[in-house]
Amino acid sequence: MNLKEQIDPKRIPLHVAIIMDGNGRWAKQKGESRIMGHISGVESVRESLTAATELGVKHLTLYAFSTENWNRPKEEVDALMNLLVNTIAQEIASLSENGVRLKAIGDIDNLPESCKAALFKAIDQTSNNTTIELILALSYSSRWEIVNATRKIAEMVKKGTLDPASISEDTIHQHLTTKGIPDPELLIRTSGEKRISNFLLWQCAYTEFYFTKTLWPDFKKEHFYEAIAAYQQRERRFGMVSEQLNSDAH
Ligand code: FPP
Repeated sequence: MNLKEQIDPKRIPLHVAIIMDGNGRWAKQKGESRIMGHISGVESVRESLTAATELGVKHLTLYAFSTENWNRPKEEVDALMNLLVNTIAQEIASLSENGVRLKAIGDIDNLPESCKAALFKAIDQTSNNTTIELILALSYSSRWEIVNATRKIAEMVKKGTLDPASISEDTIHQHLTTKGIPDPELLIRTSGEKRISNFLLWQCAYTEFYFTKTLWPDFKKEHFYEAIAAYQQRERRFGMVSEQLNSDAH
């Protein structure tokens, strides 16, 4: 039986998030430039998106560029931005054909104009698709997002339109860039690093983490299935005890 057949179609996570890591190390091992690592990583994006779509995942979030990534050498930042623009332009037809709705989270205003233009065009053209939502985290960091949300909420309190006593978890959720998106049930990080690196800190309160040594450009559909299969072996308790979960209520 292959891995895909071992997956229970009734327990597919609705939302999977991925920290795509290891492009640079993959390139180094091959004696290639770091940019080549990122270019090769695009194929893995395609593989994971296809696998997620086939399994019925409804939201796939990819950490494509962090706030901290702006500190990389200019040459690499420029190459990543160009790669993003070109990939989005090339893939837009295929995204539409496959029912993919594109979304971006992060400090999008901070991206170069060419990148924003390509992104907004693709978001607009795919906005009616419903099979899966592909969420690109760009110029994203969780602390930035939480600071941003706090400012917006503070403004409302200042204006008198929000009573501090009524601030709830949902108030916070409504002001994050992930507003309206369910929290990820599964977070995958490639390349052997076991950190969350300022990614979806609020949203990952109950998320299962899956770490693999596979470098991102080597991460193919089978690896995605492996992660889902591992997730399905876990018991998610949300602070309860096993017996409560096994009762009819859950
Ligand atoms: C991490 O590897 C990867 C990135 C910072 C960029 C990820 C971008 C892509 C896969 C390509 C574009 C994506 C889309 C959605 C079109 P690293 O450079 O940190 O690797 P290292 O830790 O081995 O140096």
